[in-house]
Amino acid sequence: MTDELVPDGTLAAAARLLARRVGLRLDPAIRGRLSRCVAEEATAHRVDAADYVGRLDEDPALLQDLLNRVTVQETSFFRDPGQFAALRTVLPEVTSPLTIWSAGCANGQEPYSLAMTLADAGVPAWQIVATDLSTRALSRTRKARYAERELRGLDDGTRDRHLFRVGSEWQVTDALRTRVEARHHNLVAEPPPFEPGTCDVVFCRNVLIYFRQEDVVAFLERLALWMRPGAWLFLGYSESLWQVTDRFQLVRVGDSFVYRHRDPHERPAQVALDRQPATRNQNRRPRPAPAPRAPRPRPDRPHVTFGRTGADSAPDGPKVEGGGVKELLAAGEAAMNEADYPLAVATFRKAAYIDPDQPVAHLHLGLALEAAGEAASARRAFGAARAGLDRSGTAAVEAVLEGYHVDELVRLLDAKLGASA
Ligand SMILES: C[S@@+](CC[C@H](N)C(=O)[O-])C[C@H]1O[C@@H](n2cnc3c(N)ncnc32)[C@H](O)[C@@H]1O
Repeated sequence: MTDELVPDGTLAAAARLLARRVGLRLDPAIRGRLSRCVAEEATAHRVDAADYVGRLDEDPALLQDLLNRVTVQETSFFRDPGQFAALRTVLPEVTSPLTIWSAGCANGQEPYSLAMTLADAGVPAWQIVATDLSTRALSRTRKARYAERELRGLDDGTRDRHLFRVGSEWQVTDALRTRVEARHHNLVAEPPPFEPGTCDVVFCRNVLIYFRQEDVVAFLERLALWMRPGAWLFLGYSESLWQVTDRFQLVRVGDSFVYRHRDPHERPAQVALDRQPATRNQNRRPRPAPAPRAPRPRPDRPHVTFGRTGADSAPDGPKVEGGGVKELLAAGEAAMNEADYPLAVATFRKAAYIDPDQPVAHLHLGLALEAAGEAASARRAFGAARAGLDRSGTAAVEAVLEGYHVDELVRLLDAKLGASA
């Protein structure tokens, strides 16, 4: 028994079930929440936690109630506004009638922001398919009624065009509501909710970050089969497909980064609207050298961010500024010390997701993958660390290393890359 509300074995059984059924990964941030939800649901059903968890797999209603409690509906209207600007930019390229899938739509602010964008842009024929695992979130989406404090992100003009007051709340107009179809859908277990080739834009933001790596990969493979080449995939600001799949190409549209389904017959350069600058020294030959111990992130320093990370990323998940990545690196190290390599891989992978340009995260991921016997993936991670080093500059990287110099990191990476070449 830990200091948590549910015995360790019972919590582990609940976590295994949720991982298998809905892809949820039990990291430290989720652990406390799951423990509390299991304890509360068991009490509500007047059974002890072990009996309650034992019944979950066989009782869909019981499981759904738990999912309604465990899932996080953090969202807002026009969250990450640059992505909506990017959507406006690509609208002339998409086919008509236009279907947009809002996957993991939470309480509806995302699909209604999409609906407002299309209506205001004068797109003639469109529909939004909004899906979520939580039936509670779906009924809120269908109702489309929000308290004043839930209107965060909406400017007055947009609000007054598309919502009207009902007492102390605001109701989305029927003109939009009837074009947003809310459906129950499990991203981990079901095919996309549209006919293959009929959906040009998918918003799947701040959802994959909670999944196990294998579920992320399987989901993206299914999605790639369903989307036509050239279709657009919007992920959360802190989510990255780096090292996860090459089915989608990262392109820059205005100030945002968007993924585009890669046509296997098309040269990558033809796909990008405005690509990131090429990485310097990508083809540098690795130099064999003795391998020092892996540098550790300096625990007492604020985390230095690179590239796309920012204070407003993943407000419902681990925070990037102020220690989210640092904590993940520390948790990953603890898992390595316990020889729990799958957990270490998952934890470091999350750190690399959140801060894709941070070489230290990729380095540790590579070491964990190596320890787990996944040599090819480890090599990719070391390559990512090396490319990140080339991009980031030495001062920024040394700020997170504990008494090590970038040169040592370079030697270690070159040794790893040289040894596995
Ligand atoms: C943090 S919210 C993101 C909301 C919105 N996409 C945004 O970025 O503002 C994550 C949502 O994903 C949903 N979700 C989690 N696991 C899911 C799964 N396996 N299938 C479908 N939805 C899931 C949760 O219920 C929750 O509403």
